Amino acid sequence: MIRIAILGHGVVGSGVAEVLRQNKETITHKAGEPIEVKRILDLRTFPELPYADLFTTSFDDIVNDPEIRIVVETMGGLHPAYEFVKACLQAGKSVVTSNKELVAAYGDELLATARDNNLNFMFEASVGGGIPILRPLDQCLAANEVCEIAGILNGTTNFMLTRMFQDGMDFDTALAQAQALGYAERNPAADVEGHDACRKICILASLAFGKHVFPDQVHTEGITNLTPADVRCADALGCVIKLIGRVHLQGDKLHCLVAPMLIPRSSLLADVNDVFNGIMVRGNAIGDVVFYGRGAGKLPTASAVVADVIDEARHLESRKPLFWGAGAPDYVLDPKIEEYAWVLRFETADARSLRNRLHEALGEISEITYTGAAETGVAVRTPRLSEAALQSKLAPLADTTLVSCLRIAEL
Ligand code: HSE
Repeated sequence: MIRIAILGHGVVGSGVAEVLRQNKETITHKAGEPIEVKRILDLRTFPELPYADLFTTSFDDIVNDPEIRIVVETMGGLHPAYEFVKACLQAGKSVVTSNKELVAAYGDELLATARDNNLNFMFEASVGGGIPILRPLDQCLAANEVCEIAGILNGTTNFMLTRMFQDGMDFDTALAQAQALGYAERNPAADVEGHDACRKICILASLAFGKHVFPDQVHTEGITNLTPADVRCADALGCVIKLIGRVHLQGDKLHCLVAPMLIPRSSLLADVNDVFNGIMVRGNAIGDVVFYGRGAGKLPTASAVVADVIDEARHLESRKPLFWGAGAPDYVLDPKIEEYAWVLRFETADARSLRNRLHEALGEISEITYTGAAETGVAVRTPRLSEAALQSKLAPLADTTLVSCLRIAEL
């Protein structure tokens, strides 16, 4: 019998308890012995639950219990999750977490603490919800030099964009539905402003390239400024708009950013809709591999957490290889030097003059004619150029109103 504890009985924590009970037989078989939840930490009580007697409000009941070998952290947030996880590792307990904020901020340190104590620290659920991505990246693709990872990493915003663009739903209703379905973060600003996707691309980049990437090193844009006009404009170009997290190598440094981007309808990622996530990994031996599945939600996320628990249960006396080293301040390149083609939309009282000035400033542009464009609207596609070059070329047009500026990603 392997005894575990769960920190936090929210959407994911309750899902973990449910999956462990529901699939008890299979899990026992796979782990080699039964896995029993001994304690659940939560400030609330749940008298209606068949396992109501397991709840405690005292972390000491868990960290000081030598019978508990594995601790599952599903509280979310940085504090006290960080202190609790660190204390559990120092107390000789392996840890599983779904907390991407924690891993993106402290992954290198917690992995080192686990290594120093001959324990495992695993976090498959922190990226892509139920999709197996970290273990395949670390183990199945180990023979490759990974050169790029790009993907739709946030289920809430993908659900919202799909509902807004396929059903004409407004932003607030789409967000409320995503919250009701248990997809959104406690503070949904983390979803719609891109921070959740940023944490996930940081974890993927750290694992794939071996050094910690911190969220504040990654340029991040969310979806809050997107409008139906942007969508119609993308549609006219044969593209959809997705919130993309992307990292790729240049020399021994990384380009890494999160932003809403146009991607061609022919891309596999263009068909990733609703709460689903899609993650493309490009390796020098395998070429492109795409991982697809439910990126958020109670049971999909619990599926990944429980798989980690089973893996740790099988490796109580040995370490799994999952690891990366410390980061560096200049490891991530200035996002303004990375080249993209851009879609620019302007509002102007004098469209003809603006077109001439845009040609003069940017050279080979093509104008985009999209449905519902106002007479005062001009939209163009630029050649590939860096944001720095774009800004300097647009400087003479400072008197015009640029209402939208989106990257096109050839994925
Ligand atoms: N809020 C996150 C999302 C949950 O929507 O993707 C899963 O990490």
